[in-house]
Amino acid sequence: MKFFLDTADVSAIKLINELGVVDGVTTNPSIISKEGRDFETVIKEICQIVDGPVSAEVTGEAAEDMIAEARSIAQWAPNVVVKIPMTTEGLKAVNVLSREGIKTNVTLIFTVSQGLMAIKAGATYISPFVGRLEDIGTDAYQLIADLRAIIDFYDYDAKIIAASIRNTVHVEEVAKLGAHIATIPDALFAKMTQHPLTAQGLEIFAKDWAAFKQ
Ligand code: G3P
Repeated sequence: MKFFLDTADVSAIKLINELGVVDGVTTNPSIISKEGRDFETVIKEICQIVDGPVSAEVTGEAAEDMIAEARSIAQWAPNVVVKIPMTTEGLKAVNVLSREGIKTNVTLIFTVSQGLMAIKAGATYISPFVGRLEDIGTDAYQLIADLRAIIDFYDYDAKIIAASIRNTVHVEEVAKLGAHIATIPDALFAKMTQHPLTAQGLEIFAKDWAAFKQ
């Protein structure tokens, strides 16, 4: 299973990348806007830090606008992936871009049908949103399991990026269900290394060692 970082915070990416657990990065317009810096500059910086796919999202709504943006974004770095929203215009764009060899990540997937349409249009990655489905009381885990079963049954190349991951349980569950990738906010990465019994155990070891040394 791969872990992507769901952030555009370059300092956080540099720090977490040192742990050797980061396989890529995803961003979206909300994430980029938090940085208050030029979109292209930020994506190019991230692409140099991380040795893996880095998703940068288009903002146009018509297929021809998305295609033009995507062609330009694809020139920014060899590891850039163009994120396209799950709309009919988005699918038209993915169909053209995939034939040009431009990698795409179709985002805002909430149903199996949407996932299938994106896969058939030629998406490299599909991003079902776990947290936002839970927000409306829908079973996000069934969606992940169904998408994985369909990809395996038909031997599709598309990979699932479980997105809108908000807590460690989300990460653990999507891992068990076969999401190829989970994209995780930087703050959650820190929580994934911690447990109160680990901290307590360390304290006890240090205390016992100090007593022994005396
Ligand atoms: O990858 C998509 C993700 O950033 C959305 O997360 O928490 O805004 O639903 P959230």
